[in-house]
Amino acid sequence: MSEDHKKEIDQISGVETTGHEWDGLKELNNPAPRWWLIVWIVCTIWAVGYWFVYPAWPTAWPGFGSGEEAEKTGSVTRVTTGATQGSAGWTEYKQLEESQAQIVARQAGYLEKFQGASYEQIANDPELYKFAVAGGNALFKNNCSVCHGADAQGSKGFPNLSDDDWLWGGDLASIEQTVRFGIRSEHDETRQSAMPSFGKDELLEKEEVDQVVDYVLSMSSEEGPKADAPGAEIFANNCASCHGEQGKGGRDFGAPNLTDQIWLYGGEKEDVYNTVFNAHAGVMPFWEGKLDENAIRQLTIYVHGLGGGEGVGAAVEASAEESAPTPEAAQPAEGEGASTEEPAPAEAESDGSAAE
Ligand code: HEC
Ligand code: HEC
Repeated sequence: MSEDHKKEIDQISGVETTGHEWDGLKELNNPAPRWWLIVWIVCTIWAVGYWFVYPAWPTAWPGFGSGEEAEKTGSVTRVTTGATQGSAGWTEYKQLEESQAQIVARQAGYLEKFQGASYEQIANDPELYKFAVAGGNALFKNNCSVCHGADAQGSKGFPNLSDDDWLWGGDLASIEQTVRFGIRSEHDETRQSAMPSFGKDELLEKEEVDQVVDYVLSMSSEEGPKADAPGAEIFANNCASCHGEQGKGGRDFGAPNLTDQIWLYGGEKEDVYNTVFNAHAGVMPFWEGKLDENAIRQLTIYVHGLGGGEGVGAAVEASAEESAPTPEAAQPAEGEGASTEEPAPAEAESDGSAAE
């Protein structure tokens, strides 16, 4: 671009041209609009100010501030180079700390409210209920999903907690009791029951086991059970005491409903035969003392809310009466986080069937 061209004035607009020409079109030398210029100047001044107020210029040495902060909070990998500090003293670490402190303070507020509230009050307070479910969800992932699955759908030997088929009861009080004391656990107040090993302990002949298994399978079939089947009498004499005359299950013993096609240990003839021959005794660990009171209650609400929860209203009253008078058993809760000393899922199947 040289100054060589003669200053040429465009005839129509009266504006000077730049001398650039394409196919007979000439570029006019209009100045930038004033508003644009003002914005540009203001931005430039703003940017310069920003350099001084905020950390902006990278430095080769550990930061004026930022590096130290990183070390102090311990949460971030130590940076070896830093930046100018900025007069406002702002750092990302401080911002993070502040927002975390806000979250902790908010949680503490909810926890305090949660602690003093009954299940009924929690159910009627949407925010508190949401808080409980969110906490229960996180606790479940940490402590329960290893056996029950991340979505609580269970697997062979580990019950699905999101359906409305319950071994021991699906109201809040029952769930709380199960979680607190466990099932066949080491806790003194554990839920307890044992189905006899009818085959292994020779309580029934192999043929009788076979017959009663056929009868059990017929209970959940479309045709329904035949009262004159050879297995019917065997069932009435040996099984009905726990599973009920109709095989609908007995919650006092954690005896499953045998009429609903929902099988804890499999519904093939082979599986059922194995169950009756050897029996199972699923173990669910107890959580009292391993998780704090709030955690146990949050888990109870979470499990109850998974879809299969029973009668909130009635259960709430029951839970207020039944679960409250356990202070003798209440130990000081120490660990509030995940417990890592739980038996692996495989150990829960202590039925010895593998030995056969
Ligand atoms: C070591 C494996 C294991 C872990 C961990 C575990 N459970 Fe269980 N849970 C079981 C087994 C096995 C049963 C079934 C016991 C039986 O056969 O009666 C069970 C049963 C239950 C039941 C009763 C279901 C019913 O139908 O009545 C509930 C409720 C439950 N678990 C909740 C939890 C919660 C909440 C946690 C986490 C705090 C948890 N479980 C952790 C193995 C486990
Ligand atoms: C003392 C009570 C008791 C008696 C008697 C009893 N059961 Fe059971 N039964 C149970 C319990 C408890 C379970 C669940 C075991 C577990 O959860 O680990 C069970 C589980 C079962 C299952 C597994 C169900 C499933 O969903 O996988 C079958 C099948 C069964 N019993 C059949 C029988 C038959 C048949 C008899 C009689 C010959 C019988 N039971 C007698 C308590 C009993």
